[in-house]
Amino acid sequence: MTLSLVPQPREVRGHQGFFALTSPLRVSYNDEWSDVVDVFAADVMASVGWAVHRVASGEGSDIRLNYDATRAAEGYTVHVGDQVVLGASSSAGFAYALTTLRQMGPSQLWSTSVTTLESWTLESVVIVDEPAFGWRGAHLDVARHFFGVDVVLRFIDLLAAHRMNRLHLHLNDDQGWRVDVPAWPRLSEIGSVRSSSPIGHESENRRDDVPHGGYYSVDDVAEILEHARRRHVEIIPEIDLPGHAQAVLAAYPQFGNTDDQLQVWTNWGISEYVLNVEDVTLDFVEDVVRYVAGLFPGSPVHIGGDECPTAQWEASDAARTVMQRHGFEHASQLQGLYTRRLAEVLQRDGHAVLAWDEVLDAEVPQRTTICAWRGVDKGVQAAQLGLDVVMAPMQYLYFDWLSSDSLDEPVAVAPVPCFTTWEKVYGFEVIPADLDPALTHHIRGAQVQLWTEYIDSTERLDYMAFPRLCAFSEVVWGTADDVDTFRARLEHHLERLDAFGVAYRPLDRATRA
Ligand code: ACM
Repeated sequence: MTLSLVPQPREVRGHQGFFALTSPLRVSYNDEWSDVVDVFAADVMASVGWAVHRVASGEGSDIRLNYDATRAAEGYTVHVGDQVVLGASSSAGFAYALTTLRQMGPSQLWSTSVTTLESWTLESVVIVDEPAFGWRGAHLDVARHFFGVDVVLRFIDLLAAHRMNRLHLHLNDDQGWRVDVPAWPRLSEIGSVRSSSPIGHESENRRDDVPHGGYYSVDDVAEILEHARRRHVEIIPEIDLPGHAQAVLAAYPQFGNTDDQLQVWTNWGISEYVLNVEDVTLDFVEDVVRYVAGLFPGSPVHIGGDECPTAQWEASDAARTVMQRHGFEHASQLQGLYTRRLAEVLQRDGHAVLAWDEVLDAEVPQRTTICAWRGVDKGVQAAQLGLDVVMAPMQYLYFDWLSSDSLDEPVAVAPVPCFTTWEKVYGFEVIPADLDPALTHHIRGAQVQLWTEYIDSTERLDYMAFPRLCAFSEVVWGTADDVDTFRARLEHHLERLDAFGVAYRPLDRATRA
């Protein structure tokens, strides 16, 4: 049985026989699953021009959605016999069942323009499936390069196609602010545009002198959220402070530690300019972050916290006074003031809170989920502190790293040996090998990171994300096994990505060796 499903379901049992579908598809389902079937119907119409007709449960149907209370939240079954019966206990389960069903058909079912399909033949099969991890995510940096709503919606579709369920949007950095905050209008007016960007690798010291900018309006955010909701992808907005703050300080210099007049940063890397630690600045950040979080009701919110240089705090009398007031010995402890304040107010507002693993260097509020990026050991450390963890180690899951050690790879953030092949991604273990088994419940899952200093177009985004993301989807679904078997399935799966118009990296490229 070579269905070439990606990610591979937990259990696939083939039987003798086939069942052929033709247009219009007759589907029976309860009102509760209307949204799920509507999305499927739109996809089928857009790819092969087939209609989906709803039929009552007593009438003959091609596909029947059958509520099954015994399925786990995101679990599902697919039975192909003399009709297709899908079982699930939730919309997400049915959505995944329909996604798997679409993968079981011809690749053209993934086409973004209408193609002709006479009949869709399904092999008789029983699939029983559920994911191993609840957090199956991707992060996208829309700050270094801004990506418009259409690109984000397409990316959500690609996540859903791989049964992934989280999109973490990195909404600000030194190089740009990307969401409108009416009470602080200069964030988007000033902070969203930089005057130029590096050309080639930053170390070459060449620049394009082309302004780059963009930000999401309230309506844009609503559109992204609704699209994601219908595809069972949760959006996690990130406002990354008190470091990575130069775009904020270009807009509102009063929140800095110096009198310097700043521009939105035109270099990559980490700016020395960080927010000061005065009460008015913490109030400002609370106001902004609560507002942005409010645009994503009930969503987890990421409060950043990575790579905050302390040189300006160490040089500041005002910061030293705050350190004395709190009895801090190290300037790095000042960051904890932000972490604590934001975690408290966001949790009170009903948001789960995530932060990068640097927050472990100061006091971490209870119930903060740590994104472990500097290494697997940071995930272990967080779990030992009783904190939940999303694994994001750069050595495996930073897709801004080179895809191989080939000289042909496009410029990326760091040189060899910082490269991550899709095979290496496929070998990633979500649960750290040396974690005490009693603590594994703290590992909620994992996510890949797409930092975009060197990703300035959808084509480059596709190249860096795929096929590594295909490999990752199987790792985090929990069914990764033999890399050669995966490769055979992946080769077929790439035909689906071709149909979708994904400019993925070819599986093989010459290496340096
Ligand atoms: C990070 O890569 N600075 C989280």
